[in-house]
Amino acid sequence: MPQQVTVTEHLLLHQKRIPGATGQFTRLFNEIVLSAKIINREVNKAGLVDVLGFTGKTNVQGEEVKKLDEYANRILIHRLARSGVLCAMASEENADIIEVPHGLPLGDYVCIFDPLDGSSNIDVNVNIGTIFSIFKRVSPEDSHLLSTDVLQAGLHQVAAGYVLYGTSTMLVFTTGDGVHGFTLDPGVGEFLLSHPNIRIPEQGRVYSVNEGYSSYWDEPTKEILEYFKSTDNNRRKPYSGRYIGSLVADFHRNLIYGGIFMYPADNRDPKKPEGKLRLTCEANPMAFIVEQAGGMAVDGRNRILELEVENLHQRTPLFIGSREDVLKVREIYREHDAKG
Ligand code: AHG
Ligand code: MN
Ligand code: MN
Repeated sequence: MPQQVTVTEHLLLHQKRIPGATGQFTRLFNEIVLSAKIINREVNKAGLVDVLGFTGKTNVQGEEVKKLDEYANRILIHRLARSGVLCAMASEENADIIEVPHGLPLGDYVCIFDPLDGSSNIDVNVNIGTIFSIFKRVSPEDSHLLSTDVLQAGLHQVAAGYVLYGTSTMLVFTTGDGVHGFTLDPGVGEFLLSHPNIRIPEQGRVYSVNEGYSSYWDEPTKEILEYFKSTDNNRRKPYSGRYIGSLVADFHRNLIYGGIFMYPADNRDPKKPEGKLRLTCEANPMAFIVEQAGGMAVDGRNRILELEVENLHQRTPLFIGSREDVLKVREIYREHDAKG
């Protein structure tokens, strides 16, 4: 019988390897795992109970918020605030940094999350996810929390991951020691190690992008798409196009099969020239995961993990996936920049 390793066991092993580890991180992670199970339960019921439809409110990004987004956000904030190991949180759904309520114990970690990603897919029973990113505070423990504790470059993440509510529910994460995937066994209610040490193929065969917006793209992006669709690329045949419209689901497929996900800059909305995705709660965690799996993530020109974070809801173009494919993106941007 194969050995069944739970997330908790995996983390305890990880903790043993870190000198001076206090167990705070494992505590934090356990709260994320429990939140994921609770959100998963509600996601599974979405077609049955009256949680579908719009709430009529808009979030800080000006987007409509669905009820499950609010629910997932509330669960994460509630559980994480009580973990005793965080000094602050930030969510895609909240305009400002979320402080741990007065009277609750504090710790050294910061957690940033997208509670429900791909939420426009909820009503049609298509995969959605939760994304999280974890940092350690940089200011001294007993001092006032600074915005720089939360606005750290992605390079400083100590862990990042996502939960995919799909045909089965998966938790995929990295603590800087490779990428590991766990599948929820609904019978026992545990995430069991199913995908140890995931490596993304060097060269993909899929491109994922919302091609409906191609007339809004810059020239390099248009050329990049031509490249992937051409018979004259590295593969000598066109890549397959696959786009779910849930970053977590599109990313996960490409992580396993190889490929590239793109949400480029576009000139659709002058207020959002950097595209749609957020650096802190979407691009950074996915970039950390892909690099740990042997892939790459850039904004066209720069490595995502090195981008300076100026505000919580900053957006960035994102090209992420198999190494060879992302290198090609950077090469095309460089050629355009050289031409001026
Ligand atoms: P969210 O539901 O958290 O707002 O994120 C949705 C994102 C992402 O999951 C997906 O890749 C992208 O929006 C799809 O956007 P388009 O509909 O513009 O393609
Ligand atoms: Mn999202
Ligand atoms: Mn979201």
